[in-house]
Amino acid sequence: MRIGILNCGGDCPGLNAVIHGVVGAAAAKGWETIGFRDGFEGLLPAGGNFMFLTPKDTEGILKMGGTILGTTNKGNFAAKIGEGDIAKVPQEIVDRAKKTLDHLAIGALVVVGGDGSLTTAQQLYEQGWPIIGVPKTIDNDLKATAMTFGFDSAVSTVVDALDRLQTTAQSHKRVMVLEVMGRHAGWIALWGGMAGAANVILLPEIPFTYEKIAEHLKKRETQGYTSALVVVAEGALNPEGDLATIDANSGGQVRLGGIGEQVAAKIAELTGKETRCTVLGHVQRGGTPTPLDRILGMRFGVMAAHLAEDGEFGRMVSYQSYHVGSVPIKDAIDELRLVQPDTEVVKAARAVGVCFGD
Ligand code: F6P
Repeated sequence: MRIGILNCGGDCPGLNAVIHGVVGAAAAKGWETIGFRDGFEGLLPAGGNFMFLTPKDTEGILKMGGTILGTTNKGNFAAKIGEGDIAKVPQEIVDRAKKTLDHLAIGALVVVGGDGSLTTAQQLYEQGWPIIGVPKTIDNDLKATAMTFGFDSAVSTVVDALDRLQTTAQSHKRVMVLEVMGRHAGWIALWGGMAGAANVILLPEIPFTYEKIAEHLKKRETQGYTSALVVVAEGALNPEGDLATIDANSGGQVRLGGIGEQVAAKIAELTGKETRCTVLGHVQRGGTPTPLDRILGMRFGVMAAHLAEDGEFGRMVSYQSYHVGSVPIKDAIDELRLVQPDTEVVKAARAVGVCFGD
């Protein structure tokens, strides 16, 4: 038996931990592992663009950020475009890639990806490919799994940034605005903001007004607080209902960014406070994974190999109630998992005085 693995979509801390898990579990079953380079694109050149992976090759990668296989969130296999419209992967591309799979006698293909890549994986599964999905994204927005690896590492980077911003905010009596990733889901902003003791957290899921934010910050001033931390998710809509975008079509995807500056300018105007904006950007995707992401990634990889052994194709590894199991891939991709505004976590933040601008 030969098992293939590829990463697809944006990278995130913990990808190498999944590879480590798949390779280790596959070797224990007496299987060979092949890693395709640059996502599905690695299946396209005649004969494939790949490397053999043994436990020796993957020694030490558990703790490394990025992915030794490379990845892409663009290219020939895009199945979700723009704001999530479904596109069919061209049949000629599917057929070319399938030739590589057959030529290399791959008995199972582990696809480690987010919403877009798993949509591609589901299309290939429906054409008879032996696909196993592994959920990956710092955004934590995939349905059917309580958590994706990469999220915890991104949150810890946000918290580190907020801790640093707090000391300079206090010294200068400023309002510091931090724009974080997450696309259309507010998980990174919510968890990062709560753990980093932000005073205002702005999410795509909770409409806000600048007046409410200014009111909250002014009230804090009357209570003697001279500085404040504001976290805004890149996908938060401004009060006019608009997304801030850097590029409306970056290889088929909307590139988000710019809401932080808008929020900072408006806070300065309405409160008279000196305000600065920091955009955290890809720092959230880089660096070494946290212990939680290392373990989660490794467990996901091991489970993927077990699913392959059982012939459980079309299923995605899933984390629920501290247990790693599996669900049909299609259950994870029909819609995004968003923050519910009335959830206990949001209520807890409100209880300790966090303002959501509503
Ligand atoms: O989906 C992961 C993510 O990091 C988002 O949070 C962000 O909007 C996007 O990818 C950035 O993509 P790129 O690497 O193409 O700039």
